[in-house]
Amino acid sequence: MVNPVYAPAADRYENGMAYRRCGRSGVLLPEVSLGLWHNFGDVNPLSNSLAMAHYAFDHGITHFDLANNYGPSYGSAEETFGQIMKKSFRPYRDELFVATKAGYDMWPGPYGNWGSRKYLMASLDQSLKRMGLDYVDLFYTHRYDPDTPLEETLQALVDIVRQGKALYVGISRYPASAAEKAYRYLAERDVHCLIYQGRYNLFDRAPEEQGILDQAHHHGVGFIGFSPLAQGLLTSRYLQGVPEDSRMAQGRFLKRETLTEAVAAKIKALNEVATERGQTLAEMALAWVLANEKVTSVIVGASSVAQLEDNLKALRKPGFTRQELERIETICRLPDGGK
Ligand SMILES: NC(=O)c1ccc[n+]([C@@H]2O[C@H](COP(=O)([O-])OP(=O)(O)OC[C@H]3O[C@@H](n4cnc5c(N)ncnc54)[C@H](OP(=O)(O)O)[C@@H]3O)[C@@H](O)[C@H]2O)c1
Repeated sequence: MVNPVYAPAADRYENGMAYRRCGRSGVLLPEVSLGLWHNFGDVNPLSNSLAMAHYAFDHGITHFDLANNYGPSYGSAEETFGQIMKKSFRPYRDELFVATKAGYDMWPGPYGNWGSRKYLMASLDQSLKRMGLDYVDLFYTHRYDPDTPLEETLQALVDIVRQGKALYVGISRYPASAAEKAYRYLAERDVHCLIYQGRYNLFDRAPEEQGILDQAHHHGVGFIGFSPLAQGLLTSRYLQGVPEDSRMAQGRFLKRETLTEAVAAKIKALNEVATERGQTLAEMALAWVLANEKVTSVIVGASSVAQLEDNLKALRKPGFTRQELERIETICRLPDGGK
């Protein structure tokens, strides 16, 4: 049987998605972006990855967030994305905003990690091959490298843009002091930093507390929040224990120890607030992040189309009353009960 050719939904831009300007730039990003950290590796069925990518694009998600080592195995999420490009997305390349990154452990030896020019340049070339792309829209240094001169990392970004291999550059997980230097260094070379990527959710307020959001805003740099659902904690996933097929059951990035009795009680209490608002907990958690105008987009992960569908309902965003916000704050500030 010949596979049917993918035809995206004709109403994909009138389906409820809103787009926000990314800092002081010409780029608009969807309020919800899709991350390929999990569930797009060579251990996952291609049919499910393909279905999620189609559902995303059909609902106005134009931004796909990758990194060199997403999988498992390393590189395989980019290979999966390459297959999705080939099977479905090739005619729509100009409607897509594709990001990748380098900065974590990727290949053995001294040149496959951190922030050297040697690593970033080689890694991006590999990423382009795996995804079957001529360029990425956005290339990130995935983390701050305290041992490489920051100028070396940043100049590599400048040169990558000049080579046309990335249209824009961004930084991820940089401490505020290094971010400040990065914004200035790049601006002085006419390569404006497009975006800062950091973890931001009801349980992790670091971007507010460390001044990252205000700093990005001040420099005209967008902010995109990753793990807005705290890897699934801020959803209905763990309301009744740990399901067999969940990220926590795999135990690699989300450990069972995280779900203390106190955290389980917090999740239940937040779920009650969400239910009273007529939302799922996932919807409410995403709506809460998006209520902050300094946030350009949230990058969600999903293991099924149904989860993605649930998450996109957050775009309906009924506003929060002051009482709801206070209740949410009180719950979130309760101790986690861990070690
Ligand atoms: N820059 C960085 O260093 C960095 C670090 C981490 C992530 N990221 C980016 O951010 C993206 C998102 O991160 P994340 O996957 O941790 O995000 P997340 O949205 O906080 O968590 C996603 C997980 O939550 C569960 N989930 C999602 N929607 C659900 C729903 N409606 N109902 C029930 N469960 C739901 C699923 O878990 P199950 O799999 O258990 O079903 C899903 O895999 C990544 O793909 C990556 O692109 C970047």
